[in-house]
Amino acid sequence: MKSIFFLFSCLCSAFLSAQTYNPLWIPDTLSGSNITLTIKDTFAQLRATGNQTITGGINNSQFWGPTIFINKGDTVHMNVLNKLNDSTTIHWHGMHLPAVMDGGPHQVIPPGTLWQPYWKVTNNAATYWYHPHLHEMTLEHLTKGIGGFIIVNDQEESALALPRKYGIDDIPLMLTSRRYNTANQFVVQNVAYGDYLLVNGTRDPEITLPKQIVRLRLLNAEVERAYNFGFSDNRKFYIIANDGGLLDKPVQVSKLLVAVGERYEILVDLSNDNVGSSINLMSYNANQPFGFPGGEPAAQGNFGSLLNNKDFNCLRINIGKSTNSPITSIPTSLISNQFINSAEATVNRSINVKGGVPGNPTPFNFNDKIFDINRIDNTVNLNAIEKWTITNSNVFGHTFHIHDVQFKLVARNGNTNAVGLHEQGWKDVLYLPRNENASFIAKFDDYADPIHPFMYHCHFSNHEDGGMMGQFVVNNPSSIIDNMPDESQYTLFPNPASDVIFMENKGVEIYYITIVNSVGKSVMMLPQPEIHKGISIAHLPKGMYYMQIMDAATKTTITKQFSK
Ligand code: C2O
Ligand code: CU
Repeated sequence: MKSIFFLFSCLCSAFLSAQTYNPLWIPDTLSGSNITLTIKDTFAQLRATGNQTITGGINNSQFWGPTIFINKGDTVHMNVLNKLNDSTTIHWHGMHLPAVMDGGPHQVIPPGTLWQPYWKVTNNAATYWYHPHLHEMTLEHLTKGIGGFIIVNDQEESALALPRKYGIDDIPLMLTSRRYNTANQFVVQNVAYGDYLLVNGTRDPEITLPKQIVRLRLLNAEVERAYNFGFSDNRKFYIIANDGGLLDKPVQVSKLLVAVGERYEILVDLSNDNVGSSINLMSYNANQPFGFPGGEPAAQGNFGSLLNNKDFNCLRINIGKSTNSPITSIPTSLISNQFINSAEATVNRSINVKGGVPGNPTPFNFNDKIFDINRIDNTVNLNAIEKWTITNSNVFGHTFHIHDVQFKLVARNGNTNAVGLHEQGWKDVLYLPRNENASFIAKFDDYADPIHPFMYHCHFSNHEDGGMMGQFVVNNPSSIIDNMPDESQYTLFPNPASDVIFMENKGVEIYYITIVNSVGKSVMMLPQPEIHKGISIAHLPKGMYYMQIMDAATKTTITKQFSK
């Protein structure tokens, strides 16, 4: 009788705590030197019941796109086809590349247009990502689910005994949350925080991970919320990489704050867990200091959320059998980073967070200037080493992200010892709590372009869209302006063309080509095209086209006609 009662009470409590989980979606992978991303409007069943949600997908996905694997040293060609009904952009977050390839607010891809940037990968092995960046539309396009991981591999990382079986012991985790209306559609107006968590687009996700050391690649792709990660049994874990590369050695912690836009790679030791047991990856967001994004007490409204000021589960991890040749130990050291020395900085810049004062209608901004796409805020000389200090005397925490470079965080509040051990590597986003400042050093090498700027901004997409963004150009003072080219310097052949069209350009360096059709709609955009290889126009319908050719030195545009 006693045992029956015992069984009954067990069943009962199992029933009461019954929580159903869904298998975590692992994004497809793309690799090689030619990557095609077709961005489209689609639908996804993101809620347990009711309507599907209108989303944005890439290639075969319905929410969040494929993971791109690239190798340091390779040249990668991207073919981004915008099949949305809206213009958008795709920014390669964290990549060091020419401004014209960057995919920021200036590289607008109109609907139906193929954008073909390419670059030589010089970034270190780490976890990066791509996402839309059209000014004032970033929040909306990100909310739809457009974006994906970029995983860079290099020789140093490959030489280490680290888990790297994608989807098996090396897991990308993109965390975000959404608010839905009663028809299950995303709410994008006045929403700083979603109510329902999505990990890689999966609600209430679970995954079975092998009983060994596993690697999690954490990306915070929220609007504002920060995550204070930890495990339900409070076990320690090891940070091995931040935004732009591996740390010198693993850093042991039991909690890890990941702010919007940041990436951290962690190792978790599951080798002492029993097969069939489970732990939860949690976010311990309850009772954070004032100004912590997502610590607000309200459950509803503009700054409220069902997840605010709570400890919540992010991922159910079930322990399964170990794999063949598992990783069984945490490395004691990783790589030897060669950082820039603070003393080498020749320019100091201060960026101050302004606006957003309660009762004052000015949006958050930098240095009292709301973003203006036609205003260049800073000019940096090519190869300059600069120290930037970002000061947040605001009531609320923010993030700061800069394009083009990976930086070294050198001080928090002027204190070189206040930089966290976990944020000692190369970074491109930093978390800036209220009433604090942070300083970083960066070298602006390789890519100068006096016209095309790079961005810096708060990575909260609502703040960024609202004008908390600035732009800088990297100037090469020793570059000379040639004479204006004229039309006779370019010849297109064959004309009419069939699948490939070539150009003879008499030594003029081409900066940008846009191909528009006979009704003036752009169909292709080619930054710095490798013109000697010809331009593939195989996918264009027969007809008459205009090629708008911008030369590199003077940035003047000449238009040539061709037909196919
Ligand atoms: Cu992740 Cu300027 O962006
Ligand atoms: Cu902000």
